Amino acid sequence: MVRARSASGASSKEVPLNWNKWVRQIYRWLSLAFTVAVIVNIVAVAQKKYTDRLGLLAVLPLVFLLLTSLYLFVLPYATEWRSGRPTD
Ligand code: HEM
Repeated sequence: MVRARSASGASSKEVPLNWNKWVRQIYRWLSLAFTVAVIVNIVAVAQKKYTDRLGLLAVLPLVFLLLTSLYLFVLPYATEWRSGRPTD
């Protein structure tokens, strides 16, 4: 467990750290689901069996991938903001 020192107590930092871990884990599984969906789509197109539903199968994980990736993108900056630099 990573404990960071902060004025408001160590435990206040544990919740965000856990969130980061979970979002990253969900992101990894989504990227795997997306990869599988893309392969399924390519196979379907090659066999001329493509349907709109197969397209959605890839687009849905991609949408969630984008949402979670925005969180991951902002993380380093959020850590910087919380690192105790004066805000004004
Ligand atoms: C929707 C567009 C996407 C955006 C905006 C995006 C953005 C990001 C960002 C910001 C990170 C975090 C980098 C860091 O650690 O600071 C990341 C990591 C990663 N991305 Fe994406 N990504 C996208 C699509 C994808 C796709 C399509 C895949 C693969 C199918 C993918 C696979 C990964 C993996 C495996 C990581 C490393 C995750 C980890 O740290 O465990 N990403 N991406």
